[in-house]
Amino acid sequence: MSPQSEEAVVLDGITVRYGKGGSAVTAVEDVSLTVRAGEFVVLVGPSGCGKTTLLRIVAGFERATSGTGVVQGAPAAPGRGTGIVFQQPRLFPWRTVGGNIGFALARHGVPRAERPARIASLLDRVGLGGTAGRRTWELSGGQQQRVAIARALAAEPQVLLMDEPFAALDALTRERLQEEVRALAASLGTTVLFVTHSAEEAVLLGTRVLVMAADPGRIVAEVDVDLTRDSATDPAALRGSAEFARLRGELADIMREAATAA
Ligand SMILES: Nc1ncnc2c1ncn2[C@@H]1O[C@H](COP(=O)(O)OP(=O)(O)OP(=O)(O)O)[C@@H](O)[C@H]1O
Ligand SMILES: [Mg+2]
Repeated sequence: MSPQSEEAVVLDGITVRYGKGGSAVTAVEDVSLTVRAGEFVVLVGPSGCGKTTLLRIVAGFERATSGTGVVQGAPAAPGRGTGIVFQQPRLFPWRTVGGNIGFALARHGVPRAERPARIASLLDRVGLGGTAGRRTWELSGGQQQRVAIARALAAEPQVLLMDEPFAALDALTRERLQEEVRALAASLGTTVLFVTHSAEEAVLLGTRVLVMAADPGRIVAEVDVDLTRDSATDPAALRGSAEFARLRGELADIMREAATAA
């Protein structure tokens, strides 16, 4: 198998510095990581440790001061194989739900005539069938975030980047969307790089968790999440299992240590 098909994301020695001289901030220093195709990798760490910076590098929105970023075998660049979901949905309020997704489809080169069917199928996939004509501001926060996920999926990304996508949602909506994203990624075979502050969310979603520390931002630990689960596993049972509690506790300890690491 070619390295391209195995390695979805490769960051090698990434350092990002903002500003110059005495006021310079080193957001991340010498970060290397590999995400294999189909993995669900979660980045955790204290505020300011450079999680968003790393996602922006992978998305091609940001240039590293040094180091290289490769996505699906090519240098990281906007739209090249990646889709991104932010903490806030960031939808266009002047467009309908379908219009927001249609915009992403158009940018992806999907002919106008094919867009309505694609919009309907993407909305179905995130549980929002029949809402294409609605105004985005008529939707709840959780529904808006689903539209943002559908929009990110519109370009059929091989790598989905998610930056604390559920942080602003109530607990029940968050649980539902966690399940949906996990099932969606598994069924589409999408590689996911996901940022969160929550040990619980990391263990629930991730196949591997990378723990970062700040000043300068760097990866200090890696935890393999070997939770026994398959598509038939009942999410509530999974959350209630001893294995889940043990992994969550272990990760929370490592995160606490990393947060106080100098
Ligand atoms: N455009 C910028 N100009 C200057 N400094 C920046 C810029 N963007 C980020 N930084 C700094 O880089 C560091 C890492 O920021 P980043 O947003 O990546 O952290 P984070 O881990 O995502 O934090 P949070 O959990 O709060 O979202 C911080 O010290 C931040 O102040
Ligand atoms: Mg951030």
